[in-house]
Amino acid sequence: MFTKKDTVKAILRNSELNLKEMGSAFAPSNIALCKYWGKRDRELNLPINSSLSVSLADLGTATEIKLSDNHFDEVFLNNERVSPESRFYRRVIDFVDLIRPSNDLNLKILTFNSIPTAAGLASSASGFAALTMALNDFFGFKLSNEDMSVLARMGSGSASRSIYNGFVKWNKGSNENGLDSYAELIPTVWDELRIGIVEVTAEEKKVDSRNGMNQTVETSHLYESWPKQAADDLDKIEYAIREKDFELLGKTAEQNACSMHATMLSGFPPLIYWLPETVATIHKIHQLRSEGLPIYFTIDAGPNVKILFEESVEEVVKNQFSGIKIIKPF
Ligand code: PMV
Repeated sequence: MFTKKDTVKAILRNSELNLKEMGSAFAPSNIALCKYWGKRDRELNLPINSSLSVSLADLGTATEIKLSDNHFDEVFLNNERVSPESRFYRRVIDFVDLIRPSNDLNLKILTFNSIPTAAGLASSASGFAALTMALNDFFGFKLSNEDMSVLARMGSGSASRSIYNGFVKWNKGSNENGLDSYAELIPTVWDELRIGIVEVTAEEKKVDSRNGMNQTVETSHLYESWPKQAADDLDKIEYAIREKDFELLGKTAEQNACSMHATMLSGFPPLIYWLPETVATIHKIHQLRSEGLPIYFTIDAGPNVKILFEESVEEVVKNQFSGIKIIKPF
């Protein structure tokens, strides 16, 4: 079996250590239009299906890395020291341990999230991508984006996509070693595209996506149909991006998200991330759409709703959904 350490060894085989005084990087958060749901390898975070996302401009994570003045690793989040007992600290340092060339290099890691907690957006994607890029910068490895995508993927699957800005496709790959499972940029710019985030709650979810997807794969009969649907949806979304066909993009993303949630709901215990306000928002979107407003939605492993629309209806959307946070990805 291929381990995380084996992956790092393979990726760094031609890299030399060229320590800098400080390494830094910014990675944007991303929202999948065709979702990653289900792992074929839990150790390496290898997905069962390919996925495609759009990044969220300046919402994301900035990370700075220096040598620590102390004989231990220090982690800061938005200028506050993170307790070594916390899950956040453990996840960061476990990842750093995979990559750092020597245990004598104690680090000071400063993480700044520009994702407002209120937006209820996951920060692990941008967090692990920024950490990977900042480590690459600090150690002077000069890794390619593809290699950094493979590394970030081992921190959190969706982090493989946060290495890039814009539309990003994560190819599931087929090798057991996962070295062909990385994300690539789709170089299309869609100026008119907007994403509106309707915050239902900023509370942390009870089942994280890692456990959620494992539970679904193990217990849902509907999951059998997911890989084929995801592959078909991915083709449609790539076509819609190429042709700038907003209706096809919106419809496919909405159906893809609902299908993912259907697999969660049909497992046991049923996994229901939606809250009453989530459902109310969906009904409102459908009502407005039936009245002629071209808006669609997607939802990740949580209750918050992301509305997809184009610039031409921005004012209407703003007026209909109070408190909505609107993002211009391009
Ligand atoms: O990267 P993870 O392990 O947090 O999983 C992300 C899962 C979804 O957000 C539901 C889908 C996706 O492709 O981002």
